[in-house]
Amino acid sequence: MKSTTAGLFTPIKLGANVLPNRIVMAPLTRCRIGADGVPIEINATYYAERASAGLIISEACAISAQGVGYANTPGIYSEAQIAGWHKVTQQVHNRGGRIFLQLWHVGRISHPSLQPDGNLPVAPSAILPTGQAFTYDGPQPFVMPRALEKEEISGIIMDYQRAAKNAIDAGFDGVEIHAANGYLIDQFLRNSTNQRKDTYGGSVKNRLRFLSEVVSAVSKVCEPARIGIRLSPENSFNDISDDDPQTLFDGAIDHLNLFGLAYVHIVEGIIHSPDNIKQAFNYDKLRARYQGRYIANNGYDRERAEAALASGAADLISFGIPFIANPDLPNRLARGMPLNKADPSTFYTGGMNGYIIHQ
Ligand code: PHB
Repeated sequence: MKSTTAGLFTPIKLGANVLPNRIVMAPLTRCRIGADGVPIEINATYYAERASAGLIISEACAISAQGVGYANTPGIYSEAQIAGWHKVTQQVHNRGGRIFLQLWHVGRISHPSLQPDGNLPVAPSAILPTGQAFTYDGPQPFVMPRALEKEEISGIIMDYQRAAKNAIDAGFDGVEIHAANGYLIDQFLRNSTNQRKDTYGGSVKNRLRFLSEVVSAVSKVCEPARIGIRLSPENSFNDISDDDPQTLFDGAIDHLNLFGLAYVHIVEGIIHSPDNIKQAFNYDKLRARYQGRYIANNGYDRERAEAALASGAADLISFGIPFIANPDLPNRLARGMPLNKADPSTFYTGGMNGYIIHQ
C-alpha cells in the first residue's frame, strides 16, 4: 500500500479506525501509574491532553503479574486496572482522540521483587541480561531468569488473549502487541536470547512460533483490523541481538501478512541511544514486503517525517519524546512552531513535573 503524496495531515484509514492525521503518539513508559498498576486521574489527564494525535498508543501494560518489569507501570489483568483504563479511554474519546493499549510481557527484564511470590523472571532460555531492573527499591542487578517449560507457554498466550479482551472492555480502539525492545516476544524471536531446543527455538520458523501464537490468540478476541504489532529489528536495548536480523524480520513480516492486521510499527535503529537513527538493517525492504500500514518510529523530526511519508517509506510516523513536552504536537507541526524540549530527568521519575503540562 504505497501512498504517493501523503503528508502528516493527510487522513488515513488504519484498519477499523480512520485517523485525521498520520502523527502517532509512541508508547512511552512514564512510571506514574497508581498502586497495583491501576491508572489514576493524572494518567487520564496526561493522555487526554494528547488526544489530537491521529492515534495514541498507551505506555506498555503488563498482561499478567508475571509480565511486570518496572515499578509504577500499569497492568491490564485486574478489574481495578480495567476500570482505571476505562476512565482514560473515556477522557481521550471525549477529546475526540483514539487510543490503543500496548500489551506487554517483559520476560527476563524483571526482578524477583516485582514478581508474584518473589519468583524468578521467566524467559525462553536461562540467559542473564546485563544491566539493572528498575524496582521499588531502586535499580537492582538482573537475576538469571528461569527458562519456560514448554507446557507453560500456552498459559502465557492465554494471558495475552485475556489482556486484549480486557483492553477492548476498557474502551480501547485496539491493541498493539509489543514484540520489540528485548521483552518476552522479542526474546523468543532473536537467537541471542532464544537457545531452546524444542519447537519454539532454533530455526526462524520455530522462533516465530510464539509471536504467531500470540497474534492468533489475540485475533480471536479482537478483530485483526484493531491489532497492531511493534517490532525492533536491530535494537540492542535490553542486551539482545540476532545473527541475521534481515532474514528473521523479513520472515516475521511474511507471517504477519497472513493476519490482515491494522499495522506494523517499526522501531528503526536503537532506542535510548544518541546513535539512534536507523543503521545497517534494510527497512525499505521490510516496508515493501509488508502488505498493510507501516508506522515508522525513532528519532523523527518534522522534516524527516514528511520526507518518509512523501516517498512512501512509511504510512504514518510515531513520535515519542516530542509528545512528552508538547501535548499539542500536531498543532505545532502543522504551524511549524518551535517545540518545547523534553527534560530526560523527568521521563521516569514520577510526579507532575514533565508529565502533565499546565499551559
Ligand atoms: C523503558 O522503560 O525504557 C522502555 C519500556 C518499554 C519499551 C522500551 C523502553 O518498549
